[in-house]
Amino acid sequence: MNLLTSGSTADYIDTGSWAVKAIKEAKRVGSVHVTGSTKADSYSRIPESGELKFTPGAAYVHMTSNNTIEGTQWKSIPEVGNAPLVCDASSDIFSRPIDIGRHGLVYAGAQKNLGPSGVTLVMIREDLLQRSNDSLHTMLDYRTHANNDSLYNTPNTFGIYVLGLTMKWLRASGGLSGIQAINERKAAKLYAEIDRGGFYRGTAQKGSRSLMNVTFRLPTEDLEKTFNKEATAAGLDGLKGHRLVGGMRASLYNAFPEAGVDVLVDFMREFERRRG
Ligand SMILES: Cc1ncc(COP(=O)(O)O)c(C=O)c1O
Repeated sequence: MNLLTSGSTADYIDTGSWAVKAIKEAKRVGSVHVTGSTKADSYSRIPESGELKFTPGAAYVHMTSNNTIEGTQWKSIPEVGNAPLVCDASSDIFSRPIDIGRHGLVYAGAQKNLGPSGVTLVMIREDLLQRSNDSLHTMLDYRTHANNDSLYNTPNTFGIYVLGLTMKWLRASGGLSGIQAINERKAAKLYAEIDRGGFYRGTAQKGSRSLMNVTFRLPTEDLEKTFNKEATAAGLDGLKGHRLVGGMRASLYNAFPEAGVDVLVDFMREFERRRG
């Protein structure tokens, strides 16, 4: 609503369910071009740069850095030419360093890596604020928030306070590069277990695998149900994949401890020994 000025087109990269929702909403505002999609591959991968066809002079290019439901993640920022890059980073924000200079706008719901739900972080390049139109409702105009130090309305003070505590914890954990190393180690352990034999099967293609959401399947849906039930009973809750894709999904957000991955890997080995 702020960036898609009248007469221009916004480019969207379709990499999964959240991208689809972003496209649907953008179409209410103006002209949208889908620059590329991996839907035909069940969103099991991130597109190659050669697959993306950008609109000359696009208002912006929108991407989803981590596809929470499908378990894929961009490994590098795509080359998008002169258009500002807009990134929904809700599910991998601050899990690794961000090259902020290559973005026009980054937005992220807090509830994965930042703090409690109910807070959204928006970082916008200052010159882009000039695109906002006076016909926007005051609260929906980014200029309002920029001009008032994000205090135009009464914000979610408790949520922001907890977010501040989380940022202190993140700094004490070695900052973004420190947490990246931890996240890489956690995910590598789990993917190694998935790849160890043929019992578990990762659903994301190897070059696109997410460090945040590890999606995998078992040989049958019945085994998946049993796995889920036994895992929950063992204290490993929330492993059921999103209903859109089925299977299993282990979310390894910043706050999830490495020891938890070790317990999950042990559980998976034991489950395979008994049921495989
Ligand atoms: C990548 C991504 N975008 C957007 C959302 C939506 O966030 P919210 O529920 O805060 O609207 C989510 C939530 O899981 C997400 O993972």
